[in-house]
Amino acid sequence: MSQPSVTTQRQVLVCVCGGIAAYKVCHVVSRLVQRGVDVNVAMTANARQFVGAATFEALSGRPVHTDLWHNLAGEQHQDPPHIRLARDADLIVVAPATANMIAKMAHGLADDLVSSLLLAANPAKVFAAPAMNEGMLQHPATQRNLAAVATLGVTLIGPDEGWQACRTTGKGRMTEPEEILITILQRLGLKPG
Ligand SMILES: Cc1cc2nc3c(=O)[nH]c(=O)nc-3n(C[C@H](O)[C@H](O)[C@H](O)COP(=O)(O)O)c2cc1C
Repeated sequence: MSQPSVTTQRQVLVCVCGGIAAYKVCHVVSRLVQRGVDVNVAMTANARQFVGAATFEALSGRPVHTDLWHNLAGEQHQDPPHIRLARDADLIVVAPATANMIAKMAHGLADDLVSSLLLAANPAKVFAAPAMNEGMLQHPATQRNLAAVATLGVTLIGPDEGWQACRTTGKGRMTEPEEILITILQRLGLKPG
């Protein structure tokens, strides 16, 4: 089996949340790996209702991070996973970014691995691709939270308009994986390949 010919020395942390679009994030992870990017994946408990950790483990070639309390000291690491993951990533992508996770980010809540590492991370390196039903998106609380997250320095990718999992058309659809990929690669200074 052949490996990516060139490793880019870039590290991306993909945080998968509990939205139906979680399955599309498999494509983003696979394409980043093919491009020679080191990809770590963290998942919320609700994300694992949609896609198994094994899928992301196979695609990234690395263990998937799901637990705030697991592997606290690592092998030779001194820091717990939420600190280490936030620090070591060149870029963090939250996709799909649920209404819930956006609310947590806006308010600085940190009650699981993903929200804790996002609070530990420099917002300037965080990219979030919101995805949700149009009603959830248009709710004033979500609109306020999205504005707050952007003010903190997080880059929002989308959401777009189109067919939604609730079998209607509306705004709230996650930006297409290829577009998310291009945004990430551009920020990393890499050409799509
Ligand atoms: C079938 C199904 C689809 C869902 N899709 C979404 C979604 O696309 N976006 C969203 O914000 N929440 C969605 N939810 C609700 C979230 O799973 C729920 O708010 C959860 O608490 C999010 O947890 P997390 O942010 O920790 O991953 C969905 C729930 C179900 C049962």
